[in-house]
Amino acid sequence: MLTRIYQIILSLGLGLAIGLFSLSPLPALAQTNPSELAKSVQEIEALDSLRSGLASTLEGRTEEPTLQTMKEVCKPVGMRAMQLSQENQWQVKQIASKYRNPDHAPDNLNSKIALARFEQNPDLIGFWDRETIDGQAGTRYYRRINVEASCLACHGLQNNRPQFVKDHYPQDLAYNFHVGDLRGMYAVFIPDLKVAIEQAIEPDIEE
Ligand code: HEC
Repeated sequence: MLTRIYQIILSLGLGLAIGLFSLSPLPALAQTNPSELAKSVQEIEALDSLRSGLASTLEGRTEEPTLQTMKEVCKPVGMRAMQLSQENQWQVKQIASKYRNPDHAPDNLNSKIALARFEQNPDLIGFWDRETIDGQAGTRYYRRINVEASCLACHGLQNNRPQFVKDHYPQDLAYNFHVGDLRGMYAVFIPDLKVAIEQAIEPDIEE
């Protein structure tokens, strides 16, 4: 698990460094705090494990899951994403083309392109993008979400969806998935402003 995280951080860090050197003027380097980028990768890996762990508890059950257990898979993930946003002044989202909760629809052109990139490259786990959201420049980390067998209890065939899903999500699009399909992605926006403030209050070490 940890080795996996380090691999991701290493490859993303390298990609980011190459991207910044080749695309941006040098000052952009000062705007991205690598430790914050690394932290966002770790938090998203933990968030993804939270969902897989919760979903796997439904697998192989003989008794009909109660309404409560059925609800306790993807809702807590959304709540934890909100908490991460508040704790870090990030914007942590889940985004999908076929979404269940309309809050998770693609929110800009970049996120649509990101979904298309994941769709076309099944081996692509995550990448960084420079974006401006609500007038604020920053770095956005995208991480893919794949469908596992345990997800099909609620994201499988349309008619097999649990009743609470049919009742609460009349506009639901998040069904008819198969194992290995791209389910969506996490998107973490890290605004530059915060980094700029941190640098402003740090002692000047540039001489
Ligand atoms: C117990 C039912 C259930 C299971 C099992 C389940 N989900 Fe969900 N999923 C939901 C519900 C309900 C929502 C909408 C939550 C909300 O309102 O934010 C959702 C939303 C999502 C979203 C956010 C995008 C959207 O469509 O709104 C993603 C991504 C997601 N699920 C992925 C998965 C993955 C991956 C698995 C398996 C590891 C899984 N789900 C298993 C019920 C489930």
